[in-house]
Amino acid sequence: MDGMTSVSIPPRRPVRKLVTGIIWGDEGKGKIVDDYVCLAQSFEDGRDTVVARFQGGENAGHTLYVFINGKWERFVTHAAPSGIIRNTDIAIGPGVAFNPLSLIEEIKKADRLIGGYNGRILISNRVGICFDYHKMIDSARESAGKGVGSTRSGIAPFYEDVARKTTRVTFQEYLSDKFPDKLRQVLEDKKVELEAIGINHSGMLEMLVEKHKSARQGLRGHGVDLEYRMAEYMKRGAHIIIEGAQGSGLDVDMGDIPNTTSSHLLAPNAFPSLGLKRKDFDIIGVEKIYVTRVGDGDFPTYTTDSFAEIGDLNGEFGASTGRKRRVGYPDWVMARRNAWLNDCDGIVLTRADCVQDREMKVCVAYEVDGKVRTEVPVSLTGVKPVYSGTSYKWKLWEGHRNLADPLNEPPELTAIRADYVKNGFDGLPGAMKEFKRHHDEFVDCKTVGISIGAKSGETIYV
Ligand code: IMP
Repeated sequence: MDGMTSVSIPPRRPVRKLVTGIIWGDEGKGKIVDDYVCLAQSFEDGRDTVVARFQGGENAGHTLYVFINGKWERFVTHAAPSGIIRNTDIAIGPGVAFNPLSLIEEIKKADRLIGGYNGRILISNRVGICFDYHKMIDSARESAGKGVGSTRSGIAPFYEDVARKTTRVTFQEYLSDKFPDKLRQVLEDKKVELEAIGINHSGMLEMLVEKHKSARQGLRGHGVDLEYRMAEYMKRGAHIIIEGAQGSGLDVDMGDIPNTTSSHLLAPNAFPSLGLKRKDFDIIGVEKIYVTRVGDGDFPTYTTDSFAEIGDLNGEFGASTGRKRRVGYPDWVMARRNAWLNDCDGIVLTRADCVQDREMKVCVAYEVDGKVRTEVPVSLTGVKPVYSGTSYKWKLWEGHRNLADPLNEPPELTAIRADYVKNGFDGLPGAMKEFKRHHDEFVDCKTVGISIGAKSGETIYV
């Protein structure tokens, strides 16, 4: 057109996020990953979206409440990255404790819900397989009182095999025709250990080969040198979301030793194994406003006073084990240290609705051996919380009690939550804004989102 220059609008930057839990897990990472997936898909820019996992196994349980075919559905994943429910591509990194049978089951479940999952499935040739015997060993140790209150998913025995090297079965070996021979050697090498804890391994080889027969056929063609494929996604400008599992307090080196899980959870560990670079990603720490913990281990802000009632009222039961989670007050000492170790660019605070109408104090120091400190010691045994002089209480709505089951809450309540999301941060109660301001100063990281409901989309991004 004469006299007019055409303005080309630069393409939006792809969504590149790593989402990690910063206390003891169960913060609601799956829901936040889902928000970023929905954001990526809302661009409708034709780029691929891939969701990758880099550690952990079926000890993780990501619960999503998604609106599909006119109704809210609950969807839980343990093995699969939660993007499957949105039909994204998915990637399993080499640091995962991988159970192919569970992945296939979860894909089938997603398939039924969304009417045909057809994303690409990329599985690192290097990832190790978590077998039934890992679960049996884990369970036997727990039953003998020699564990740390694990999820009995085989996690510690699996990573022991990773460290032992010769007893790790890689995905490449799993797909190969030599798989039965490899498994025979592994079971032979583990014979003494299995027998020592009373596990009968006769017939186990044949049983496992048979049990995994169709999975090996079904997943043929999905084994890749993942670091190179992920680098290609980067080059193509794809949306990439990395999904952490558990929370930093359970990191095998930097967590509450020995009451940790067995993998490296901290965000910066993810990048080299996926062929990606930290500088290309925002690291988002997910922090539940209050604290919960399952399994053994000390927990400085643990409480049994009336504040703990929020656990039952809001369904604080493990997604993997069904165990009741212990509840405590916010622990900003732990949050600050773990936001730092993860190199977080921002924090999403979750479950702000669950603490409404409750007086809530916050822990800003620990008393260790009579001394007040703001550093987290190796052992949390005997550590006492030191609370700030300020407590917080807010109310988001009148008349509706929070429900532990988001699928059955009254539609009016869902509508109230939606209004809060529409009105944004400015529409939140003053006490919540004050909580956020104090939190961000203390934790030294800015809050970029506040979630006020369990369902997808019920998060206010600041
Ligand atoms: P494992 O990872 O099953 O070996 O369990 C070791 C410890 O980590 C136990 O205290 C578990 O309860 C805890 N744990 C493992 N996975 C999760 C999780 O996803 N959320 C919360 N706690 C977990």
